[in-house]
Formats: sequence, structure tokens, C-alpha cells
Amino acid sequence: MTTAIMVGPHADHPRPGPLAPYETALRDGGPLYLVRTDGRREPLDVDRWKAAADTADETLLARCAGPTLDIGCGPGRLVAALVRRGTPALGIDLAATAVRLTVHAGGAALRRSVFDPLPGEGRWSSALLADGNIGIGGDPEALLTRTAALLRRDGVLLVETDPRNPDRSERFAARVEDAAGHRGTPFRWAALGLHALERLAPTCGFKTTGTWHTDDRAFAELIRIGV
Ligand SMILES: C[S@@+](CC[C@H](N)C(=O)[O-])C[C@H]1O[C@@H](n2cnc3c(N)ncnc32)[C@H](O)[C@@H]1O
Repeated sequence: MTTAIMVGPHADHPRPGPLAPYETALRDGGPLYLVRTDGRREPLDVDRWKAAADTADETLLARCAGPTLDIGCGPGRLVAALVRRGTPALGIDLAATAVRLTVHAGGAALRRSVFDPLPGEGRWSSALLADGNIGIGGDPEALLTRTAALLRRDGVLLVETDPRNPDRSERFAARVEDAAGHRGTPFRWAALGLHALERLAPTCGFKTTGTWHTDDRAFAELIRIGV
């Protein structure tokens, strides 16, 4: 009889997958791009995600009343800032490195998809979809509907949208790619402007209660009203 020893990937060397270049950039820094399958590319602001919460982030944090779920928390600057404010917060993210960095920054985080079963479903006071995370899953309607189910009635959802075109509503396949050309596998993503979000919100159980721009970023506050 032989004994097999299974050795899993070390946390510092993420296995190849959709997010592998992203996890490497979170760990080591360096430029990262979102590259669509049609070849269009845009830079991803990993350095800002790894920095402390800034003035524009503060406008989101100030609206988080009570236990807050940061969906796609990345390296955890918002979760850590909420904890420092005394606001209970949990980050969730698919990327193991993001979860590890959030915990290292002093926050609580779980490696979970927003579409997986989550603690406190239907009881969260606030939720965050920051830094383009309205794109998660490539279907904003499904994501908003799922997020409504996570919030308590009258819970607040804070969403960052595309600041350049308020009517933008795009769904696409993309990969992340680093400066050396290392690519992850394709995943579905979306981009939404403020007006497009306002049009979609009522069909997903939300009422828009505010929109604002800070530092070239665009945000909306939605309240869960039920469908
Ligand atoms: C644009 S980055 C957001 C950065 C983050 N808000 C920050 O402050 O660093 C998108 C994040 O969403 C995560 N993500 C993608 N799909 C997800 C899903 N289905 N559930 C949870 N997180 C997801 C990615 O791993 C990534 O960390």
C-alpha cells in the first residue's frame, strides 16, 4: 500500500485560475489590466485598493450604519477602516490573497462568493459594492437581487459606478493580465453608470436615495425596499 501526500498550493503561490495575476499583483504590486476578449484593456488600480481608505472612500464609510458586508473586499481597506470606526464589518472575496490581506489589515473576511451561502443573510444593515464591483458575475440584475436578499429591510447598499458615462450598461467577458503578459482565465464582468443603475434598482428591490461624485468617482446609495 502506498501513502499519497497531497500538497496544496502555498498561500503565497496561488494556483492558476481566473484571478492568479490579480493575486500576484496584490502580493507583489505592479501594474494589472482588465483585458476584454475583444482586446480592449483598462488599467486596474491595485495600488489604490492596497492603500488606506481615501476621501472618496470616506463618503461611503460615513453612510454605513450598523453591520456592513463588503462584497469583493479585495485587500480590505474599507473593512479595516470600518473596524477603526467601530462599525462591525465582514469582507468576502473569491481571492485567497485578498482575504489574507484583509485579515492582516485588522478586518474579518471570508473566502466566499457573494452567490454562496453567507452569514447573516437578510440581516446586514449595509453592504458595499465599491471599485467597480457592481460588475461581479457580469449580471448586475442578478447581483443586486442577491444583495437585496442579504440586507435587512431598509438596509443600505452603497454602489460605485462608472464615472465617465452615466448611461453605460455593459456586460462582457474579460481576463486580468499583468505587465509580463501573464493572463488569468476569462470571467464575466459588467460596467454600469449612475443612470443605468437607477433604472435597474427598482426591479431588484431597491430605491435610489442619493447619488454623488467625489474625486472623479461616482456613487449611489440604494435602500432595500423589497420586491
Ligand atoms: C475591482 S476588485 C475590488 C477591490 C476592492 N473593493 C478593494 O477595495 O480592494 C474586485 C474584487 O471582487 C472579487 N470578486 C470577484 N468575483 C467575486 C464574487 N463572485 N464574490 C466575491 N468577490 C468576488 C475579486 O476577487 C476582487 O477582489
